[in-house]
Amino acid sequence: MYINEAKDNVGKFVEIKGWVYNMRTSGKIVFVLVRDGTGIMQCVVSKNEVSEDTFEKAKRLTQESSVIVRGTVREEKRAPFGYELDLKELEIVHLTQDYPITPKEHGVGFLMEHRHLWLRSKRQWAILRIRHRIAKSLRDFFDSRGFTLIDAPILTPAACEGTTTLFETDYFGEKAYLSQSGQLYMEAAAMAFGKVYCFGPAFRAEKSKTRRHLMEFWMLEPEVAYLTFEENLKLQEEMVSYVIQEVLKHCKTELEIIERDIKPLEKVVPPFPRLHYRDAIELLNKKGFNVKFGDDFGGDEETALSNEFEKPVFIHHFPKEIKAFYMQPDPDDPETVLAADLLAPEGYGEIIGGSQRIHDYDLLLKRMQENNLPIENYQWYLDLRKYGTVPHSGFGIGLERTLAWIAKLPHVRETIPFPRMLEKIYP
Ligand code: 4AD
Ligand code: MG
Repeated sequence: MYINEAKDNVGKFVEIKGWVYNMRTSGKIVFVLVRDGTGIMQCVVSKNEVSEDTFEKAKRLTQESSVIVRGTVREEKRAPFGYELDLKELEIVHLTQDYPITPKEHGVGFLMEHRHLWLRSKRQWAILRIRHRIAKSLRDFFDSRGFTLIDAPILTPAACEGTTTLFETDYFGEKAYLSQSGQLYMEAAAMAFGKVYCFGPAFRAEKSKTRRHLMEFWMLEPEVAYLTFEENLKLQEEMVSYVIQEVLKHCKTELEIIERDIKPLEKVVPPFPRLHYRDAIELLNKKGFNVKFGDDFGGDEETALSNEFEKPVFIHHFPKEIKAFYMQPDPDDPETVLAADLLAPEGYGEIIGGSQRIHDYDLLLKRMQENNLPIENYQWYLDLRKYGTVPHSGFGIGLERTLAWIAKLPHVRETIPFPRMLEKIYP
């Protein structure tokens, strides 16, 4: 049996294969918390109910020893996952000595160095299970709406999101880069399949140490032919609301373990507020910032803006100078582009970046030249504007930032199994 199947096994004699999470002895009883990856089961070993050998073995157990236990399942409201096992038999698979992570507090540096073991802790378990649920519900959302999954390449000849954060590698004597985004390839795919998405790792050599930046993160990027800017926002708010509903429905235990107050999450339903960039500038200045048209928002500005709203908020119509070359200028306000960032509430800031894309060949070429991009590497991308070009839009949602918000974590380092951070690549 797996521990999360306890509900259907009450009264039955079962076997659980796992590891000792924690234990305590009180005279004639040993309580052993056993985890198996699906949950934690409190096993009760009573001196009077088991053989002497079994009782002695139980007393010798140590944290993270691997064990196979057998006994009868009982409902017990006070146990961590609601059930208890009256242990009858115990097999020690491996007796662990000196496990480095004890239940007492360790510093983050120590824990990060031991990430390969830290993953076994209840809190990390809960966080990464929520990560799985977010990823699954994102995929389900697009699959149920007729999108086709198209995988984007990781090795690429050109930049998507600016040339300053590229990881360069050697490709048989030519320069290649780890992908910053699958978007450009999704644009090609959208012209072939209509509605597409990719979901994979993205790489950015971000030279800054912040609580929001990873060098390697996961991004889901939908792209849709004929989708307008406004329709793109609607797709995003429906997607984010769906993900929240799914997490609330399927991750009750996990949210409890991390002590997440779910009230703010329950408020996340469409429509989301929209704030024009120019109004955002005004709002920030009212709040004591000193910003003007043309300034990009950093973490502090985003936090201040997102704190103003209970739901995620779209900031839209950014000045074209601070945004990517492919974004469609607003015909009525050509200094700005038809782009929006979605800022998560509770101070979290940007989780999505999206836009309508330029579909006119000459305009795109001009914007690429203004950005000093090597045109020969993008000829295929320009081709898309030569053969049956149509207006189209898409966006990218970052999995780790979305999880940081939903789990209310102070830093993205716990949102990915093995984080890649500034100058840190172990383990
Ligand atoms: O805003 P970004 O740079 O947009 C793009 O990459 C577009 N090409 C997406 C598209 O339109 N298809 O990144 C999108 C999201 C951000 O909102 C953020 O959630 C996440 O990706 N992200 C990061 N997450 C963690 N660490 C980093 N260094 C990140 N950079 C971006
Ligand atoms: Mg962005």
